[in-house]
Amino acid sequence: MIIAHLSDLHLDDDPRAESRVAAVMGYLADLAVDAVVVTGDIADHGAPSEYARAAELLKHPAPVLVCPGNHDVRAEFRTGLLGLPASGDPIDVAQEVGGVLFALCDSTIPGRGAGFLADSSLAWLDETLSGGDGPAFVAFHHPPVEVGVPLVDAIRQSGEDRLASVLNRHPRVVALLAGHVHTGASTTFAGVPLRIAPGVVSQSLLPVEPGAGRGWDEGGPLDYERPPSLLLHVLHDDGRVTSHQRIVSC
Ligand SMILES: [Fe+2]
Repeated sequence: MIIAHLSDLHLDDDPRAESRVAAVMGYLADLAVDAVVVTGDIADHGAPSEYARAAELLKHPAPVLVCPGNHDVRAEFRTGLLGLPASGDPIDVAQEVGGVLFALCDSTIPGRGAGFLADSSLAWLDETLSGGDGPAFVAFHHPPVEVGVPLVDAIRQSGEDRLASVLNRHPRVVALLAGHVHTGASTTFAGVPLRIAPGVVSQSLLPVEPGAGRGWDEGGPLDYERPPSLLLHVLHDDGRVTSHQRIVSC
C-alpha cells in the first residue's frame, strides 16, 4: 500500500496557493496510490469559498481523507469538504482502505493556533482502534512533540501523555501522520513513527538556516520560494512504514 500525504495547503482565494495545490494533485493524478491523506490547514481563513475550491482540487481515484488544522473552521470544513451538516464539534473520521484503518482526529482548539485532542476525540480513537487488529494510521494536524522548529514547537499538541496512553494500548498503529510544521520531518512519539508532511504552501526554516530570524514584516521564518512537496508512505507487509519525499515543480 502507498499513501500520499500532503498538508498545509492554506487555500486563500489567491492563485498562488491554488496553483501549488493543483501542481501536487496533478502529480498525484498519474499515481496509483491507495489513499491521499491531507493533514489540515486546508483553508487559510476557513471561508466557504476556500473549501469550495479545495473540494474541486482534492480529487483522486483513491479515497481522499482530510482532517482540520488550526487555520480551518469546523462548521465550514464539515459543510464544504465533507458534505455534512454544520457543527462545531470535533471532526473525527475513520475510514478503512484495503484492510488498513485510517483514524483522523481533530487536534484543533477553535480560535487558537495550538493543538489538543479533546477527551471525546481520544475516547473515539481508543474505541475506533479497538474495532480490529489490522494496521492503522492515526492522523492529526498538530505534532504531539517538539520538532526543532520554534515557531511551531510553541503551538504543538499538548496533553500528549493521554494520547500516548491510547497508543500504548494499540500496537496496531504503524505510524502517526501530521502537518502543521511546514517541513517534511520524521521522528517518533510513544515509540511510534511520526511522519510530518511538508507544507504545500511554504516551508518553515530551522534556526540554523538563512532567513530563520526574519520578523513577520519580512515574511517570518517561512520560505515561500521553494516548490511544494509531499510524502509517499510505503506500508510494508511487516508493518514498517518507509516515507519518500517528492518535490513538485509548479
Ligand atoms: Fe499551516
